[in-house]
Amino acid sequence: MLPFIRSDLAQLVAYTPHPGSTVQGSTPSVPVQVVDRLDTNESPYDLPPELKQKLAWLYQNELEANRYPDGGHQQLKRAIAHYANISAQTLWVQPENITVGNGSDELIRSLLIATCLGGEGSILVADPTFSMYGITATTLGVSVHSVGRDEGTFAIDVEAANQILNGAPQPAVRLLFVVHPNSPTGNALTPAEIDWLRHVPESVLVVIDEAYFEFSGTSLLTEMPQHPNWVILRTFSKAFRLASHRVGYAISHPELVATLDKIRLPYNLPSLSQSAALLALEHAPNLLEVIGTITAERDRLYQALQQCPSLQVWPSAANLIFARLTPEAVAQSAQSAEEAAIALFQSLKTQGTLIRYIAGGFRITVGTPEENQRTLTRLTATLQRLSLAK
Ligand SMILES: Cc1ncc(COP(=O)(O)O)c(C=O)c1O
Repeated sequence: MLPFIRSDLAQLVAYTPHPGSTVQGSTPSVPVQVVDRLDTNESPYDLPPELKQKLAWLYQNELEANRYPDGGHQQLKRAIAHYANISAQTLWVQPENITVGNGSDELIRSLLIATCLGGEGSILVADPTFSMYGITATTLGVSVHSVGRDEGTFAIDVEAANQILNGAPQPAVRLLFVVHPNSPTGNALTPAEIDWLRHVPESVLVVIDEAYFEFSGTSLLTEMPQHPNWVILRTFSKAFRLASHRVGYAISHPELVATLDKIRLPYNLPSLSQSAALLALEHAPNLLEVIGTITAERDRLYQALQQCPSLQVWPSAANLIFARLTPEAVAQSAQSAEEAAIALFQSLKTQGTLIRYIAGGFRITVGTPEENQRTLTRLTATLQRLSLAK
């Protein structure tokens, strides 16, 4: 290892996302094999052509490539505040409550820097959950406390969490991350979990990640004014179909907004991405129309997967489904649980279906009806072929 690199980074493995969409340059494009990308919980639907045209028009006629973007995100903050109020039927969200990030990934890092860096704090997560909380904390040298979840429902082990919160760890827990609904497991917070969050000490910042809230239709936004230690994270990468533009936002107490502003890079969001998010909000009813199709497809996929006796499948409030091989199916395969799961994952990949192998199971993003049908056909055939089906 190069002598100037921090020694604790030697053990870390870089997060390797899938290659993403093809970037067209001056070289002729190479035909790409059709791949159903059901591994990153994006929307399966691209922006409608008329919105792409508008965005292209803006780029050609209004945006100045030679100028820095609006580093204060003023127009976008106003539009986000308006959308947030409409989405939860509230009136209190103002631009002063909004922070805009280069994806919510950037905001996760900013929150860690604002609360825990320099040995001042640690974080608490309930696994399995979104992996970037732990990964980003580790890259910053922030320690991660992890509690488990109920094996049947994936509800958070609140008792274990309280033990950590009350046990005065050094450094103290400053950040608690929950996802509503959770990834990779799809479960929304229960009334009991929400009640627990209401009583988390005010010295702990509670991050409620609502990346999938447009699919679940439930948000804790209405309660936020009573909890200055809550922050809601959201993204344009899922329901708004803008994953390539990297726009996320946080809704919080204005003092936290001001602190996050001190930390971020001055021009963290390119002009085109700001325009794309503004355009998406302007056309929100049109873009969000497909949510009904996606959730109906999710329910169809769930029911079909439930018919596979070798899979245990969990209900989901998001645009993803979590499943594991049953112990009986693993036993029949004469492999370890991990080997059997990886064999299934690899075989699907070879056939052109990308899903995520995670937490000893599979997270399948809900795709278009055609993608879902192909996935079901390939999955059931592969279970048979690998002797994983009874
Ligand atoms: C729970 C959760 N939070 C945040 C993100 C990151 O979103 P963004 O694309 O805005 O960085 C994801 C992405 O998969 C996610 O699942």
